[in-house]
Amino acid sequence: MEDKSNENPLRQGMRLIRTPQPCTLIIFGATGDLTRRKLIPSLFSLYNQSLLPQNFNIIAFARRPKTTEEFRRDMADGLKEFSEFQIDKNPGLDRFLSLIHYHRGDFTQIETHEKLKKFLQKLEDKKDGQRNRLHYLATPPSQYDSIIKNLGTAQLARNENGWTRIIIEKPFGRDLQSALELNKITGDVFTEDQIYRIDHYLGKETVQNILVFRFANGIFEPIWNRRYIDHVQITVAENIGVEGRGRFFEETGILRDIVQNHMLQLLSLFAMEPPSAFDANAVRDEKVKVLKAISPLSRQYIKNNVVRGQYAAGSLMAKSLSGYLQEEGIPDNSITETYVAMKLFIDNWRWASVPFYLRAGKRLPKRVTEIAIYFKDAPLQIFGDVTEGEIPANVLTLKIQPDEGISLKFDSKVPGPGGNIRPVNMDFRYGTSFGESPPDAYERLLLDAMIGDSTLFTRSDENEKAWELLTPILHYWQNNKNRVPQYNIGSWGPKEADDLLNKENRAWRRL
Ligand code: BG6
Repeated sequence: MEDKSNENPLRQGMRLIRTPQPCTLIIFGATGDLTRRKLIPSLFSLYNQSLLPQNFNIIAFARRPKTTEEFRRDMADGLKEFSEFQIDKNPGLDRFLSLIHYHRGDFTQIETHEKLKKFLQKLEDKKDGQRNRLHYLATPPSQYDSIIKNLGTAQLARNENGWTRIIIEKPFGRDLQSALELNKITGDVFTEDQIYRIDHYLGKETVQNILVFRFANGIFEPIWNRRYIDHVQITVAENIGVEGRGRFFEETGILRDIVQNHMLQLLSLFAMEPPSAFDANAVRDEKVKVLKAISPLSRQYIKNNVVRGQYAAGSLMAKSLSGYLQEEGIPDNSITETYVAMKLFIDNWRWASVPFYLRAGKRLPKRVTEIAIYFKDAPLQIFGDVTEGEIPANVLTLKIQPDEGISLKFDSKVPGPGGNIRPVNMDFRYGTSFGESPPDAYERLLLDAMIGDSTLFTRSDENEKAWELLTPILHYWQNNKNRVPQYNIGSWGPKEADDLLNKENRAWRRL
């Protein structure tokens, strides 16, 4: 029989390995933290794995006066700190750094974009003359507008003797209105298939594995619905605080920072219908349908089912830490939330009346992201007389990080004459099964953008639907400037979040 296993990318660990065409990556705002911490280390990793194309260059575009040599030195220092590769004796380091060119300029000036264009053309003409360009907006969002418009005016947005694409970092908008405006500005200059809105969660191996787990296996799909699932809990917990980003966070809050993007992505991948193919539009069409099916949140509903919180001084891992209001740059009367919990329903045949509980918070006891699926009880409890209390529910947990894996909790007989029943775990761990830790999400996403695969990027309608869902919460909070419930650092959030589940005879998973 003909072996077709190579034809199906899903059977090959998601996707065929493809090499991008020669291209230039232009990073706007290259002196910022993202470039040093994430972009350059990821590019260096791709370089070490020979996954970058031939004739690849990086143009680091920023306002600060710097020479290319100085910038390369900064990046070398950054690599020492953030790269997974040994830097000191790495023979490829100098060669990699030689791909980087620093370009100084003010993003608001059209002249700097004109200069950039000339610089690019010179670089490209020295090689094969192909004009494949990937712009990366790593600046504060307030600058997106002028950069995009200037790229348009300088004719740096058109496909001309090659392709042109743009990666835009989150937050993409800060409510529905601003997201619509930004989509309009971007859409006037670029076509949708040139635009790559990045959400680094989609680059995580474990997040992509949600689809493989669901759609490459035959045994889970039949139980992935309201008949078998009682409820779902999605947690994105962090033990860090605002980490010197106080001013940014004060303007943002966790609803915009984590829920609008990372959490709704997890929810859509978990709940979507099987796409007809594994391609950008088929997958994103199904994800958008989930967002469209979530019941809209009325004021009364928000009052009863959405909880916010702010961390107050406390201690974590034997270290006393100050509360959010004492962080640098935070006003005393701030009502910005560092924790949010909510209940959502998806009104479709698969999920009607199944509650989805979401919680995200900073300065919680540990860093953990997971989706826990609680199954319904067996229809008849025949072991009632031999167990103490209720038999615990079966729980399937998709562990996104840090202990990447999947585990199934089910009930088992305790050995011995008593016939007691106790939950046990069946575990799959990435580390043990594959013997390596997953690569950084940015590696995958940068490579996909160079290849032209936007499956793991957010489409405009997806982004708008997410804002449409959550904007009523932002408005509700703006109109109810009451004190935000406090929770102690190192606790699992405010009491109100526990009440949200307790009143329905459920409880948050203990992590
Ligand atoms: C970012 C948020 O998008 O995600 C940060 O802006 C947050 O506030 C981070 O800390 C979490 O990412 P990860 O990959 O560590 O879960």
